[in-house]
Amino acid sequence: MAKGILLLHGPNLNLLGTRQPEVYGSMTLDAINAAVERHLAPYGVELRSAQSNHEGALIDRLHEARGWADGVVFNPGAYTHTSVALRDAITAIELPVIEVHLSNIHGREAFRHKSLLAGVCLGQVAGFGWRSYILAADALLRRWELLSD
Ligand code: DQA
Repeated sequence: MAKGILLLHGPNLNLLGTRQPEVYGSMTLDAINAAVERHLAPYGVELRSAQSNHEGALIDRLHEARGWADGVVFNPGAYTHTSVALRDAITAIELPVIEVHLSNIHGREAFRHKSLLAGVCLGQVAGFGWRSYILAADALLRRWELLSD
């Protein structure tokens, strides 16, 4: 069976391209989604992308993913640092979720150092700009043995 990945983006990430490009890079969200799609094409993985500025809508997307996805690549934006509800959703869906950040949250303001979500994710990738998403997708491909060194 072909695998499926939900690529999920949280608040303010719809503004990528113009939002603090010195921190987040100049690629738009559509361009990032397309780059991940291109990267996954040879592996026959189905990719569905979504973005929301609303915590509850992100939770709904995670719940829906149970019905079709085998893994999730998730940039929760600022909810990373605040959301017990997203943490509980990640725990509840029992899918491997990889937390992604464009910036290195550990080198920024102290309030960004703490992730409420990372502990219930398979792992975290932070600091590699849009390529953080590619590295996270590769982690899932390796887990499924679709990619090997
Ligand atoms: C971010 C880091 C968060 O701290 C911030 O609130 C974001 C983007 C990142 O991708 O670097 O919105 O998740």
